[in-house]
Amino acid sequence: MDAAQATPIKYDMDVVRWFSIAAVIYLVVGTLIGVWIAAELAWPALNFIPEIAFGRLRPLHTNAVIFAFGGCTLMATGFYMVQRTGATRLWSNGLAWFTFWGWNLVIVLAVITLPLGITQGKEYAELAWPVDILIAVVWLSFGLNHIMTVAIRKTSHIYVSNWFTMSMIVMITYLHVVNSLAIPVSLATSYSIFSGVQDAMIQWWWGHNAVGFYLTAGFLGIMYYFVPKQVGRPVFSYRLSVLHFWALTFGYVWLGAHHLQYTALPDWTGSLGAAVSLAMIIPSWGGAINGMMTLSGAWDRLRTDYILRFLVVALAFYAMSTFEGPVMSIKTVNALSHYTDWGIGHVHSGALGWVAMVAIGALYHMVKKLWNTEMYSDNLINVHFWLSTIGTVVYVVAMWVSGIMQGLMWRDYDEYGALTYTFVESVSAMHPYYAMRTIGGLIFHLGTLVMLYNVVMTVRQASAARSTAAVPAQV
Ligand code: HEM
Ligand code: HEM
Repeated sequence: MDAAQATPIKYDMDVVRWFSIAAVIYLVVGTLIGVWIAAELAWPALNFIPEIAFGRLRPLHTNAVIFAFGGCTLMATGFYMVQRTGATRLWSNGLAWFTFWGWNLVIVLAVITLPLGITQGKEYAELAWPVDILIAVVWLSFGLNHIMTVAIRKTSHIYVSNWFTMSMIVMITYLHVVNSLAIPVSLATSYSIFSGVQDAMIQWWWGHNAVGFYLTAGFLGIMYYFVPKQVGRPVFSYRLSVLHFWALTFGYVWLGAHHLQYTALPDWTGSLGAAVSLAMIIPSWGGAINGMMTLSGAWDRLRTDYILRFLVVALAFYAMSTFEGPVMSIKTVNALSHYTDWGIGHVHSGALGWVAMVAIGALYHMVKKLWNTEMYSDNLINVHFWLSTIGTVVYVVAMWVSGIMQGLMWRDYDEYGALTYTFVESVSAMHPYYAMRTIGGLIFHLGTLVMLYNVVMTVRQASAARSTAAVPAQV
């Protein structure tokens, strides 16, 4: 799988190091904002000035975790995997640096514009139109470099992780471009070229595929490289991984309408969305089982290998959220879950349990390789693992209970046909669960601080060792 083992090759890994460090920093910042907005929902007095009010910081949280943390992780691992599996350097190291600085510029612009209230009001596509153009250019620079590096590879085979990354690159390009089509009226304001129900459909075609291709396919590419690497054996079934790839790529694009059940959209679109969603359980579970079974015969490694723990728990959450999502897409279930915290629970079992955990496992693995050293402290990885796992479970359980309670309270009628509960009563019933979610989030966030400390100390230790003993950086 890793063609680099026979003859050592000089790779372009500096840019990967920078993307990795940036990913860890953005994870800390993104989860800190998450904890703050969670606290704002529990204790509304915290919304004391508009710039830090929930409505402004919520998109900053989603942009920070998805695009800053998620994006830097995808680019770090993408550039790392494509070189090592193709036994070649990057097609263009200069272009990779352009991607690094361009992507960070996008993040800086998000940090400035979102608290000022500059937004297009579309979820996961809030940023103003000039930033949208910048995103398209930078994303294409990443895509071009990745695809060209695959083209100049020295190996005959294209490893499955690269297929997942390339499908993400192609799909996100056209989803982002189509969803962002707008008529600008000033530097900060524009109007979508779509209107009414078409606008909603295009938005959720993007919204769901941001989940399907960016947060799922991209991170599955990571899983298929880093799980076998960490276990030290090939993936359980390569054939199954290829089937997983094609089924996912084919299926995901049809699901968007499950976000718009019981709306002005034609009813059949929601039914189609639900039917394909249910079908997606098969490839998703096939992939999760494939990842898990890669450990068969090596399960004892989990006792001592804390990085592997992150990767395996991530697979368990992947399986769980890809079962929960299809169930939530069924119209009768969606009638209860939609607009409630159940959705937020589902999002974070995917986002914390799957996306963040698999990313954290891959980042620890890469840090050791990139700086050619052991981690400063393995025990701290273990501490981080428990903080992440406990934090995720507390967060998700709080949201499940609160979401289902919310849904049941809203639909409860008395014998005269009047609503049993006022909306305000449902809001105040949420308070304990919002406090519990804040605590869960805080625990998860503390784990990210432990990671940052451990990574910084590891890099310092490696640099010190190199300057005294002239240890070469492994690339
Ligand atoms: C400490 C960890 C985190 C905390 C405390 C947290 C908290 C929150 C809160 C309070 C919301 C708003 C919920 C609402 O509107 O009712 C939210 C939304 C969201 N968060 Fe997080 N979050 C955390 C980590 C993450 C991570 C790591 C990701 C992604 C990788 C993520 C992705 C999202 C998404 C996609 C939404 C929007 C959900 C929706 O609209 O349905 N979060 N988060
Ligand atoms: C087969 C897999 C999956 C299916 C069929 C699915 C389905 C769904 C459904 C039906 C909703 C609720 C829509 C609504 O009522 O508005 C939803 C929301 C969501 N799911 Fe999933 N899900 C899947 C996997 C995942 C995974 C792995 C993640 C990873 C992070 C994820 C992230 C999200 C997000 C962010 C939302 C909230 C979107 C929003 O309202 O802002 N999903 N999903």
